[in-house]
Amino acid sequence: MTLKVALAAVVCLVGWAYVAIIKPPPAKVCGTPGGPPVTSPRVRLSDGRHLAYKEEGVPKENAKYKIITMHGYASSKEFNLIFSQKLIDDLQIYLLSFDRAGYGDSDPNPKRSVKSEAFDIQELADILKIGSKFYVIGVSMGGYSAWSCLKYIPHRLSGAALVVPVVNFWWPSVPTSLYKETLGSLTFQDQLAIRVSHYAPWLYYWWLTQKWFPTFSIGQPNSPLFSYSDHEAFKNMLSIIGSKKLTNDKARQQGDYESLVRDMITGYGNWEFDPTEIANPFPNNEGSVHIWQGFDDKIIPYQLNRHISEKLPWVRYHEIPDSGHLLAFKGNNSDVILQELVLG
Ligand SMILES: *[C@@H]1O[C@H](CO)[C@@H](O)[C@H](O)[C@H]1NC(C)=O
Repeated sequence: MTLKVALAAVVCLVGWAYVAIIKPPPAKVCGTPGGPPVTSPRVRLSDGRHLAYKEEGVPKENAKYKIITMHGYASSKEFNLIFSQKLIDDLQIYLLSFDRAGYGDSDPNPKRSVKSEAFDIQELADILKIGSKFYVIGVSMGGYSAWSCLKYIPHRLSGAALVVPVVNFWWPSVPTSLYKETLGSLTFQDQLAIRVSHYAPWLYYWWLTQKWFPTFSIGQPNSPLFSYSDHEAFKNMLSIIGSKKLTNDKARQQGDYESLVRDMITGYGNWEFDPTEIANPFPNNEGSVHIWQGFDDKIIPYQLNRHISEKLPWVRYHEIPDSGHLLAFKGNNSDVILQELVLG
């Protein structure tokens, strides 16, 4: 009897804890009552979701190169790579950026996966009629969107650049020793957050938002993420973007669950494929694929991107010494990345 009562009490407690603490609040979907207003142009995808986008550079009708950029974690189409106007004009580049599902003004995708990214990008490109082929540049967490394109829509690509792309410690091709070495090289708080997102995705919203233990460092003030060599890049980024824009960014306006949490549990979850299985998208050298990695990156250990590049001889691997996760904001690196992609 006592056992039954105790058991019932435990069940009630767990139920209460789930509803009160662990269950994420509902999303504040853009354009719905109680949600933020829609302030960007959007396309409607075949499953009814909207994707918000931003077009820059020369008009697509006149462009020589069409490029779609995919932003990182806790980010949006407003806060992406920064290219010089001169390079855009000289090379006649059309740039298309979009809020990945659940970020900014784009509807959440409860079925978000690594795979769904490629098809979001393909549909966006087709609705905007940018042509049969385009380049993609994925930054950090947006790296999984770029891998998705290489896996599922290689025939649509003119080339791809993966800039400080996310690595998944549970890719089957990663040897145990490398898994231990690389995951162990992160700060303890980031290791823990990444493990929770992988092994207990249902708990991750609580883990991210609780105040008892240090949680995932990106998106937190004073993140230990940035290495010493990133300080110059960080200042450079602030001076171009402006710190006001950084703090007022609408990336997370629909709630942390649909943006940060879904992104994290997708990037560090179990993928539908391992990047080392991907076939060369350009067997006749009609395009190129680049990985840009900082040797000092404190969140994306260089050893894993180096490992993937060694397995994929068609990847051009650029490992930059004295650079961390913000390498794209150092000096003219963004321009170098862009120029290598289209001319290299
Ligand atoms: C970047 O800067 C270097 C050194 O100043 C210069 O040689 C190079 O041409 C620049 N590249 C681009 C694409 O702007």
